[in-house]
Amino acid sequence: MATKEMKKILVTGAVGQIGSELTMALREKYGADNVLATGRKSAPSKELLESGPFEYIDVAQKDTVEAVIKKYEIDTVYHMAAILSAVGEDKPWLCWDVNMNGLKNVLDLGVEHELTRIFVPSSIAVWGAGAPLDMTPNETVLKPSTMYGVTKVAGELLADYYVKRFGLDCRGVRYPGIVSHETLPGGGTTDYAVAIYYEAVKQAKYTCFVREDTVLPMMYMPDAIKATIDLMEAPFENLKHWNDFNIAAMSFSVGELADSIRRVMPEFTCEYEPDFRQAIADSWPNSIDDSVARAEWGWKPAYDLDAMTDDMLTALGKKQERGLLA
Ligand code: SER
Repeated sequence: MATKEMKKILVTGAVGQIGSELTMALREKYGADNVLATGRKSAPSKELLESGPFEYIDVAQKDTVEAVIKKYEIDTVYHMAAILSAVGEDKPWLCWDVNMNGLKNVLDLGVEHELTRIFVPSSIAVWGAGAPLDMTPNETVLKPSTMYGVTKVAGELLADYYVKRFGLDCRGVRYPGIVSHETLPGGGTTDYAVAIYYEAVKQAKYTCFVREDTVLPMMYMPDAIKATIDLMEAPFENLKHWNDFNIAAMSFSVGELADSIRRVMPEFTCEYEPDFRQAIADSWPNSIDDSVARAEWGWKPAYDLDAMTDDMLTALGKKQERGLLA
């Protein structure tokens, strides 16, 4: 498959945690007018709205996606719209509809409009019973226990099928939990790793919904953005995998996360009241082997836990001073 240029980009889920920062990074790199941000119902931030084009669409309604592909002559899609794991357990059929029908609509439009490339994100939620918990390899058993995980496994397989059957260029990574300070995550299991920093800055204490010894793979947003853009820019012929790349940056327990915060804020305290999300966290790996991504497209993270903590606390401290942390 020839590697074509990406000129007009559509970001679905652009109001979400990753989509909002990815949109800004893409606007910086490819030109603000060339990156259309879209959302379903949440209001976009002032920054997102004022920095380039924005439209409301519903990925589960194919005609709404097709309308913006035509209007903006889109050739590349970063398909970030999804229902995450915790909300997906509350609303499994909404999760199926958005994650599966939404993805199929985007892939079908990719074929019908001969799009250049589509980014199809996956997650650590693809794993469950039977997969090794430590240094989980790229190739292993995929038996998730959540609806979100089911849609992510099926999504990886579906997107790979479109590569082989229709010659559509689509790629994706299995994101770990993503930590960031611009937009809050919406209803995932790894959200505690973001909330803990917000609560540390706001009130120097946090009540965590998973146990202190819970370890999950995590990544700081700048690394997640870099992984996304780097994979999309990799020559297709270099790839032996397409939609299921493991990517790793760091793994830590909540206790270690709290300790990292206490290095900077000795007064910080954390309590633990595990809820239904504990079982989801327990079904996911502790750490990930990302050697395939390193070998095929040169993946390498920059941030470790303490570097992330320093950056998060500084950024949120500034927001607090400006009265932006309600
Ligand atoms: N952050 C996601 C979640 O917790 C995992 O991909 O649902």
